[in-house]
Amino acid sequence: MARPTSIYVCSACGQESIRWAGRCPGCGEWNTLIEQMQPRGGRGGAAARGSRSESRGGAGAVVPVALSEVAAHQEDRLSTGIGELDSVLGGGLVPGSLVLIGGSPGIGKSTLTTMALAHLAAAGRRTLYVSAEESAAQIRLRAERLHVGDALRVPVIAETSLDTVLATLERERPEVCVIDSVQTLHCAELSSAAGSVAQVREVASEIMRLAKSLRITVLLVGHVTKDGALAGPRVLEHLVDCVLQFEGERERTYRTVRAIKNRFGSTNEAGVFEMRDQGLVEVLDASARFVGEATRAPGSVVLCAMEGSRPLLVEVQALVSSSELVPPRRVVAGLDRNRLALVLAVLGRHAGIGLGTADVFVNVVGGVRVEEPGADLAVALAVASAAKRVAPVGGDGGPLACFGELGLTGELRTVAHAERRLAEAAKFGLAPVVAPGAHATLRSALGDALGDTSAARMEAA
Ligand SMILES: Nc1ncnc2c1ncn2[C@@H]1O[C@H](COP(=O)(O)OP(=O)(O)O)[C@@H](O)[C@H]1O
Ligand SMILES: [Mg+2]
Repeated sequence: MARPTSIYVCSACGQESIRWAGRCPGCGEWNTLIEQMQPRGGRGGAAARGSRSESRGGAGAVVPVALSEVAAHQEDRLSTGIGELDSVLGGGLVPGSLVLIGGSPGIGKSTLTTMALAHLAAAGRRTLYVSAEESAAQIRLRAERLHVGDALRVPVIAETSLDTVLATLERERPEVCVIDSVQTLHCAELSSAAGSVAQVREVASEIMRLAKSLRITVLLVGHVTKDGALAGPRVLEHLVDCVLQFEGERERTYRTVRAIKNRFGSTNEAGVFEMRDQGLVEVLDASARFVGEATRAPGSVVLCAMEGSRPLLVEVQALVSSSELVPPRRVVAGLDRNRLALVLAVLGRHAGIGLGTADVFVNVVGGVRVEEPGADLAVALAVASAAKRVAPVGGDGGPLACFGELGLTGELRTVAHAERRLAEAAKFGLAPVVAPGAHATLRSALGDALGDTSAARMEAA
């Protein structure tokens, strides 16, 4: 049987080549040749999988329709039975949509998707779990542990061949299907290894083609690389309707699911989960837990953060110790490293707290990631409090709550959703809150948070 040929296309200049080369013969760039399928236009294969536009061959033009004439049917959403996941999706799965779920290994992607299918199966939906990573027996063991919905009624196939999976989908016609994962399915017509750019792109687009024509809702699981980006080409993000990112550290309890892209809802939502024996459990009272666990010791403050459109109180801890190293250590967990550098520079320049010879460690407790400028003030206050060894003064002896962005001139800048943050703090008895509005500068906020000692006299321990 003759193998359908693939070609190599330079991602920089578009030069086509029949053989792979390290350097593009066209533009001379290195490592830009990417394997692609030969366009299927002239061959019979295209018809088999259908859906290549018939008008391609030069058939007549189409008549544009005014938007007011377009039938817009409000889609009924499919509930996954997991409230946090539904809200991240914007109210449930849109039938026929393609959702990419990215996350590092062990974070709980298979667990979450299995739970969603179990709930959908219990609600009478036709489901299918395609695993290209685990055996059917392994999936069964997980499902037994989960005790949710009708986990054991979900049909599974353990299969790595793309063609087999496509054929199975075509025959079984599930309403909702999980593909775990896009990197381990393999298209036999491409010679590159599973998980390579060419493979991932081909696998995802073939699945999308079939899913759209059969109106199958697909949850596509994808791995992320070390630096947190979805592995495989960015093209995946353009292809799918919705990209969910699963974040958190494997060894920590809390994990968040966040929408990076959503064609049917806001990208502001985030759901918080906790990994337990029986699977991922939604954490509905995350603020209460984090505030309850806050240490109130020097170096600890409570940040009124926003997880999407929802306020979340998290504890930010800092430790400052004299360093033996040049340059000293800057270690952050849950925050942006560059943001810490900025905060330390502002502390040194505008509050007289120079930490040039000290190691600084900053941590958002519970494995939550806070990537918003509103975290600046919390980092500054935690670090200053740790450097001074003075516990921040909160209302009624409770932990100190704060939020706000730091400007380069030492001013406090307002951030979005101030009212909601204040309301969340008030709900847990954390008033007053050190925030822009009450204070114009970092120096003034420091004076308030750490007592009356002149901020200018503070020195690193
Ligand atoms: N018996 C168990 N009890 C509690 N947690 C478990 C158990 N078995 C596995 N896990 C958790 O499940 C995680 C694996 O989840 P999984 O959904 O397979 O991740 P992914 O598909 O993202 O790689 C592990 O990191 C582990 O924390
Ligand atoms: Mg998995």
